[in-house]
Amino acid sequence: MVRFSKSINNLRSSEIRDLMSLAIKPDMILFSGGMPDNNLFPLQEIDDIYNNLTEEEKQIAMQYGPTSGIPELLGTLQEFLRKKGLPVDNNKLMITTGSLQAINILTKTFIDPGDTIVVENPCFIGAISAFKSYEAEIISVPLKANGIDLDQLRAAVNDEKQKPKFVYLTPNFHNPAGTLYSVETKLALIDILKDKNIPLIEDDAYSDLYFYEEDKPHLTTIKAMDPKGIDVCYTGSFSKILGPGLRLGWMLVPEPIYQKAELIKQAIDACSPSFTQMLAHKFVSSGAVYDYIETVRKEYKIRAEAMVTCLRKHLPQEITFTAPRGGFYIWLDLPKHIDSTEVLKRAIDKGVVFVSGKTFDPHGILNNKMRLSYCNTSVEKIREGIPLVAEAIREIEDFN
Ligand SMILES: Cc1ncc(COP(=O)(O)O)c(C=O)c1O
Repeated sequence: MVRFSKSINNLRSSEIRDLMSLAIKPDMILFSGGMPDNNLFPLQEIDDIYNNLTEEEKQIAMQYGPTSGIPELLGTLQEFLRKKGLPVDNNKLMITTGSLQAINILTKTFIDPGDTIVVENPCFIGAISAFKSYEAEIISVPLKANGIDLDQLRAAVNDEKQKPKFVYLTPNFHNPAGTLYSVETKLALIDILKDKNIPLIEDDAYSDLYFYEEDKPHLTTIKAMDPKGIDVCYTGSFSKILGPGLRLGWMLVPEPIYQKAELIKQAIDACSPSFTQMLAHKFVSSGAVYDYIETVRKEYKIRAEAMVTCLRKHLPQEITFTAPRGGFYIWLDLPKHIDSTEVLKRAIDKGVVFVSGKTFDPHGILNNKMRLSYCNTSVEKIREGIPLVAEAIREIEDFN
């Protein structure tokens, strides 16, 4: 009998993933994926970038690079982050193989099996899996309209018996909840975490994808606020602003944390792909990234608004949601007794898929929610698919 590690026994392929594999029919309408639309990738720009690389740049691209990232990208990314107000000068930047690797490395940096951490409920499934793979004990705190429940966060942080090793949050355009934390919530949580010796991992995969200019003041990241008395480990990604296939993300962290993280990354993969780092460097340094972000931001806003309009028209009144102000997702709140996996089964029969709520519950229980993503589906398909989702919900519970 093969003897596997205890930590791998904590990981299971979810029931949802199994259901999803049934749903890969060519004509299926997908509200399930958290990935950009293939049709939106800047293919011509990437062709031009590659074709215009010098021979020396192509050689760098083909070679191993430093663990922290190739100097070319580190330099341009620093400027990109500086423009977002991030404190790049008194922190260290590391390029990672997707920001999920940054989350993994930071977890390994802090966690021994059985250590407690605090996350939001719901929470990004990739992070939940990473935390479980290191055998963290997860305490989840509910996410409300303006951000994490501050009273419960305070209680969790002040629990001396199981003092958390870190707190992991996604304040800007949460996956799956779509939430944007208010500035007041960010300031209040800074106050709660100050001088507690509990680092904050701030996951910022989506803040460039805001829909409304007036929200810009709320998008200031906690890292950019540069709070004293908290080690903020900021993570970001090229996945939503260029392409997830590049597998490039980053962490911006205080120097002592960086030193440990670098040792871990050396052991994992020595360095992230130099090839895609070179492409990303050119894409950012030429300024093309800003035009591209502008384009996708507009497109995702059109799709989000189309989905909101359809949901308002077709959903039973009992189903509530907050219209997204950025990012990729709408999070539906169903009456307590409705099981969204049952709705999903009906929906798949009708030719449409979404992700049911318990996927994002760190404890795998809460299931009267569902995540609909609009990032990877045309307006036409959104208009076709939402009535089918509404129909599936009605079949599970007759609302009339
Ligand atoms: C909140 C959040 N963080 C991190 C990631 C990971 O992105 P990547 O590893 O592609 O950079 C995702 C991907 O969907 C995400 O939604």
